[in-house]
Amino acid sequence: DAVDDSVRALMDDMLDTMYDAPGIGLAAVQIGDLRRVVVMDLGDGPVPEGAAPPADGEEVRVPNPRFFANPEVLWQSDETYCYEEGCLSIPEYFDEVERPARVRVAYLDREGQRVEEEIEGLYAVCFQHELDHLNGVLFIDHLSRLRRDRAMSKVKKTMRLREDA
Ligand code: NI
Repeated sequence: DAVDDSVRALMDDMLDTMYDAPGIGLAAVQIGDLRRVVVMDLGDGPVPEGAAPPADGEEVRVPNPRFFANPEVLWQSDETYCYEEGCLSIPEYFDEVERPARVRVAYLDREGQRVEEEIEGLYAVCFQHELDHLNGVLFIDHLSRLRRDRAMSKVKKTMRLREDA
């Protein structure tokens, strides 16, 4: 309900873990903490003043860490959007997931301020993916039975290979 120093410490710890992975989003439950906390960095921060212009075709990723406590979806569009998702909890598996294209969301930021905003694109995909984690839902739960089974056998194979390595 409130963002205190202990929640901020968790957020910072999660951000380090996420950058190390590396990933673009992480829910607290993924590191064994059941508080409803999410961190994200889509690399879409403002380009610093005076920065050199990017070379042709170069992707600019400016760090833009975001912090969420008690995230929720207040409204979702009927229009949907497909994105190929992956997850640090499901190594090396990616698949297309269909979700509402736009969502109106609310959360407390790192300072404990309540934010309400309407979001879309990758930000909306990631927000919904991470909120799912807090509710015990993984992106493969949105797939057909057939594709979920295929995902699980691929993940088991990946895990076995990692153990053997
Ligand atoms: Ni995930």
